[in-house]
Amino acid sequence: MSTMTEIRTIPFGRPIIGEEERNAVMRILQGHILTHGPECHQFEEEFSEFMGLPAHSVSMSSGMAALHMSYFHLGISPGDEVIVPAQTHNATVHAVEIMGAKPVFVDCVLDTGNIDPEKIDAAITERTKAIGLVHFLGIPANMDSIMEIAGRHNLKVVEDCALAVGARVEGRHVGLIGDMGIYSFYPVKHITTAEGGMFVSKHESTAKSVASKRAFGVDRTFNERKIPGLYDVVELGLNYRMSELQAAIGRVQITRLPDILTSRKQNFQYLKTQLQNIDGISHILDSNNPDIESSHYCLSILLADSIANERDNIVLELKEAGVGTSIYYPHPVPRLSYYRAKYGYREGDYPNATRISDHSIALPVGPHLERDDLDYILECVSDVIKRVKS
Ligand SMILES: Cc1ncc(COP(=O)(O)O)c(C=O)c1O
Repeated sequence: MSTMTEIRTIPFGRPIIGEEERNAVMRILQGHILTHGPECHQFEEEFSEFMGLPAHSVSMSSGMAALHMSYFHLGISPGDEVIVPAQTHNATVHAVEIMGAKPVFVDCVLDTGNIDPEKIDAAITERTKAIGLVHFLGIPANMDSIMEIAGRHNLKVVEDCALAVGARVEGRHVGLIGDMGIYSFYPVKHITTAEGGMFVSKHESTAKSVASKRAFGVDRTFNERKIPGLYDVVELGLNYRMSELQAAIGRVQITRLPDILTSRKQNFQYLKTQLQNIDGISHILDSNNPDIESSHYCLSILLADSIANERDNIVLELKEAGVGTSIYYPHPVPRLSYYRAKYGYREGDYPNATRISDHSIALPVGPHLERDDLDYILECVSDVIKRVKS
């Protein structure tokens, strides 16, 4: 950055927590119901309302728990295969792996980072049971093509919407297009409950069944027990419940969501307009499909080949200048040590996913940024890139 500019500290993400969230937590602590209470139920209703019909929501202890629950509910088991994106958070894939099934990786398209529908058919075998996709950085995947392929092969579709609260395809919220979807409320996500997640489905019966499996598979909830302590277990289940404290925070956070989404969109557009003219940036991950609405989780720039190998140095220089960045995601999942050891990985596999992992930088667009912060980010990125190019 120019020597005249004062150094700032801009975090990549920062949860927006105010008096209302603090009051909500105190309200729960002053009562006696910490779990099994009305807050989770209310939060689920309000989340469904935000998504629009036909949403049925089930609060969960994390996004990972909701993903695990998805495949547990589907009965995915050893011998089965599930199509997964090579470019995603490991959780999208761990959820398949933990069920003993085999994840079959498919590369992404370079413009958005989303799974490439044209490569899915070739990865399907008679053992394939489901497609588990991610809406990468909040940009909806190509659901028309994915649903057409799933229909043709009779496959279930699990949507990982951890970064995609507010993302829509032709007005329909993601997570309600496939058979089920999951959300994460980890602190740097659009809204937070500290840890937490949501399972959603357009099928009420699926949501009901998951609600039971989320709480040990008991036949009646705590509040439905006429004789206290008396219940039966009718199926296998886990304890993936959200607490009342988390749900109370979530209920406040969801009221902030429309403003959060507007702010993210404006910040994204402001940065994109100026960054796209910088020589040294190949492109910005985004979609120009007018039928989709991104939730603008962050803004990932893909570096041009001429400076791509300088990515880590650029990140370090930005860090030194106080600009928080991240990498989404640091490796294509099949290159992570666990998956590499189990399924093998060769240089040149999944070229687009690899390029995004190795040559992109994720910049913040969250509501914690002021216009001055955005201008500072632009100045720093432009200066650093100019320096490494020279
Ligand atoms: C795409 C994606 N899916 C799932 C998860 C897991 O969510 P959680 O941290 O709530 O378990 C994450 C990470 O936070 C993610 O980025």
